[in-house]
Amino acid sequence: GQAWAIVPAAGYGTRFGGGLPKQYVEVAGMPLIAHALEALLSHPGVRGAMVALSADDPHWPGWDEIAGKPVLRCAGGESRADSVLAGLQALPEEVRADEFVLVHDAARPNLRHDDLGALLERGRNDPVGAILAAPVRDTLKRAGDDGGIDGTEPRERLWRALTPQLFRRLQLTRALEAARDAGIAVTDDAMAMERQGMRPLLVEGDEENFKITTPADLERFRFVLAQRGQ
Ligand code: C5P
Repeated sequence: GQAWAIVPAAGYGTRFGGGLPKQYVEVAGMPLIAHALEALLSHPGVRGAMVALSADDPHWPGWDEIAGKPVLRCAGGESRADSVLAGLQALPEEVRADEFVLVHDAARPNLRHDDLGALLERGRNDPVGAILAAPVRDTLKRAGDDGGIDGTEPRERLWRALTPQLFRRLQLTRALEAARDAGIAVTDDAMAMERQGMRPLLVEGDEENFKITTPADLERFRFVLAQRGQ
């Protein structure tokens, strides 16, 4: 079957001028969030998207469908984790508790279909689920308070967590609620699952599926599209 996708997009990241949250900055004539939604919904394994928006978001263009599939929306929360929780709760009732659901950042516009396909296939065959991730390429230093180097972390086993991440609807809901109730800020969905003693699978994904955080990331995405002739 197909999976629903939750897209947390309630962040205010306004470092791109004009007070525009970064997910609405346009590249190649489309806001970043449209790139992200298009990548998800044009994949045959995705059934629809639930977008979590900030309550007073004046920028949402009001799409009801993309690629012929439903785009629903709900109000996000104070943190990314709260926004994902709101999305999980707002999913249509037909989405069963044990069904796998994707979570994908609105600020990751460059998701490739083969990565999404690999995540869906391998994650569904794992009892817990899976995330896209990229191996760490740089040598990692631990800093002391004075800015001196306290040590070097072995990088062989270190990965950078990307999205989408694929988990069962109810298990992810329970895991995010548990983290919230414990006052722990989880920075991705897998972290909440790990806290529950579960071990999601790492699926290696393309480095170009980066999160847009700084203006330099935006330039990199423009460059990637230009290279592809878009
Ligand atoms: O700020 P950061 O880049 O970590 O945000 C990752 C994703 O989470 C973005 O798509 C952002 O819109 C979303 N987010 C959210 N609700 C928040 C904060 C961030 O949906 N309160």
